Amino acid sequence: MNILITGSNGQLGNEMRVLSVSHSRHTYFFTDVEELDITSSDAVSSFVQSNAIDLIVNCAAYTNVDKAEEDEATAMKINGEALAVLGSQGVRVIHISTDYVFSGDEHVPCRETDPVAPRTAYGRTKYEGEKNLLAVCPEAVILRTAWLYSSFGNNFVKTMIRLGKEKEQLGVVFDQIGTPTYAADLAQAIFTVIESSVWRPGIYHFTNEGVCSWYDFTIAIHSLAGITKCHVFPISSEEYVYKTPRPHYSVLDKSKFKKTFGVEIPYWLDGLKRCMLAISELAS
Ligand SMILES: NC(=O)c1ccc[n+]([C@@H]2O[C@H](COP(=O)([O-])OP(=O)(O)OC[C@H]3O[C@@H](n4cnc5c(N)ncnc54)[C@H](OP(=O)(O)O)[C@@H]3O)[C@@H](O)[C@H]2O)c1
Repeated sequence: MNILITGSNGQLGNEMRVLSVSHSRHTYFFTDVEELDITSSDAVSSFVQSNAIDLIVNCAAYTNVDKAEEDEATAMKINGEALAVLGSQGVRVIHISTDYVFSGDEHVPCRETDPVAPRTAYGRTKYEGEKNLLAVCPEAVILRTAWLYSSFGNNFVKTMIRLGKEKEQLGVVFDQIGTPTYAADLAQAIFTVIESSVWRPGIYHFTNEGVCSWYDFTIAIHSLAGITKCHVFPISSEEYVYKTPRPHYSVLDKSKFKKTFGVEIPYWLDGLKRCMLAISELAS
C-alpha cells in the first residue's frame, strides 16, 4: 500500500516513522505542513493522485488547547474542516481524535457510544473533524486517545523532567484522572488497524491501560529519571490556574478496540519506562 502520513513531525507522526521500518512492505509518504497542508483541498487531491495513495493516516492537528481558545477559527480549519478534505479523496482514512470530545464529568470510563459534550474550543474542533470525516467517508477509522507523550516533541514528560532538575518543589494536580499514553503504543495500534485482514471501520478508544493523576504520573517520571532533589506535592485543580478548563475524569474504555482487533494494550507505566529509555538514548 502507498500510505500518506500527515503531521509527521509531531509526536505521533514521528513514532509512525520509527515503526514503519518494521512494516517495510508498504511505501510511506511522510509529510508535515511544509510539504502538505491538510487544509488545502487542491494540494491534498494532487498529492493523493500523483502518489497513488491508498491510505491516509492523519497525525496532523492543532493541539495547543489554550491557543485554540483564542483562535478557534484556525483550530477549526485544521481539526475540523480539513477532515472533509482528507475524507473526500476516495481512499481509506485513519484519523486520531481525543478524550476532549467528552465533558470529563463522568466517573466511569467513556465508551464510543457515550454522548459527547466538548467543553473546550479544541474539543469542539476535534468533534467537528470526526463528524466531517464520517459524513464523507463512513468507512473511516477514528481512534480517540488521551494524555499523549513521546520521546519526540514537547510534552508533559519532558516538562516534568526539566522542572524536576530546575526546582526544589513542584506542585502537581492530583484531582484530574486519566491515562498517560505512549505515542509509540498508539502508533502500534494504528499498524494493528492497517495490518488487520479485514478493514473494520468505526470509532475506537485507544490509550494505555490503567489510570493515574498528573501527580502520580510526575512521581513516576521523576523516579524513572532518577530525580531525587525535587519535592513533588499534590495540589488541587483549583490551586492551579488553567487558561482552559481540564476534564476531571477522562478515562476511555478500550474494550471495543481490544475485542475487535484481539490485542492486549500495555500498562501506562510500562509505556513510560520505554519512553524514558528512548529519551535517554536520544540524549546520549
Ligand atoms: N497530545 C495529546 O496529549 C493528545 C491527546 C489526545 C489526542 N491527541 C491527538 O493525537 C493526534 C496526534 O497528536 P500529537 O501530540 O502527535 O500532535 P503534535 O505533536 O502537535 O503534531 C501535530 C503535527 O501536525 C502539524 N500540523 C499542524 N497543522 C497542519 C496542517 N495544516 N497540515 C499539516 N500538518 C499540520 C503540526 O505542525 P506544527 O507543530 O508546525 O503546528 C505538527 O507537526 C492529534 O490528532 C491530536 O489531536 C493528542
